[in-house]
Amino acid sequence: MSLQADPSPRPTYQTEALTKTYGEGEAAVHALRGVDLVVPGGELIVLLGASGSGKSTLLNILGGLDRASTGRARFRDADLTDMTDSELTRYRRDHVGFVFQFYNLMPSLTAEENVELVTEIARNPMDPAEALHLVGLGERRHHFPAQMSGGEQQRVAIARAVAKQPDVLFCDEPTGALDSTTGRAVLRVLNDVNRTLGTTVLMVTHAAATAAMAHRVIHFADGAIRSVERNDTRLSPEEIAW
Ligand SMILES: Nc1ncnc2c1ncn2[C@@H]1O[C@H](COP(=O)(O)OP(=O)(O)OP(=O)(O)O)[C@@H](O)[C@H]1O
Ligand SMILES: [Mg+2]
Repeated sequence: MSLQADPSPRPTYQTEALTKTYGEGEAAVHALRGVDLVVPGGELIVLLGASGSGKSTLLNILGGLDRASTGRARFRDADLTDMTDSELTRYRRDHVGFVFQFYNLMPSLTAEENVELVTEIARNPMDPAEALHLVGLGERRHHFPAQMSGGEQQRVAIARAVAKQPDVLFCDEPTGALDSTTGRAVLRVLNDVNRTLGTTVLMVTHAAATAAMAHRVIHFADGAIRSVERNDTRLSPEEIAW
């Protein structure tokens, strides 16, 4: 299995007829009903779709948090659907970062110490102070989560995810708990990470206007992709009408 740095423009992810069924028999929930998707490396991609349409399920499978029922999902040359548990753990550790709606920071640790939790086990980490500087919180690094606003806490969570220098950043409703001004600051940070570090960003959101800042927008419906569109011109987070 080869999981080396990737200078070529090959897709980062490619799925074929990916399905996910939770439960069995009458209680079965078909969360994904056959997803065929190509994710080019280096893009910022927004996933939209109704509640229950399978967005988080897809993110969790691509991020190695969950397994598909049938079909294939590849990351570069590696087949995620074939990996053992320990290979999936290594894949998550070395290649992907996660940002969720709720920040999941340790309340008893400072911003910098929260980031250190990840950099201590990462292969090629950034300096935690640098990661916090990147999200505009260099001055706040010795503050505890309770001393920060929701948007600031989310930026700490982004710094934590980015500090291990992942190839891909998965964001599941990263602005879901934030007002529009604070949410915009979070989007600006995600945009900067994509642009300056070249990190592929896959972001699920219910804020449909956010799609205007993406390179590519994926519309989900009933466990499948309904359409994919590319934005010829992209708006900056500041220009998005929330
Ligand atoms: N662990 C689970 N066990 C059983 N069913 C699940 C599980 N996780 C998700 N589902 C079901 O799979 C379907 C897709 O869920 P998913 O979380 O992917 O939707 P979503 O598009 O992310 O929705 P939302 O916008 O509300 O977050 C839903 O019907 C959901 O109830
Ligand atoms: Mg979801």
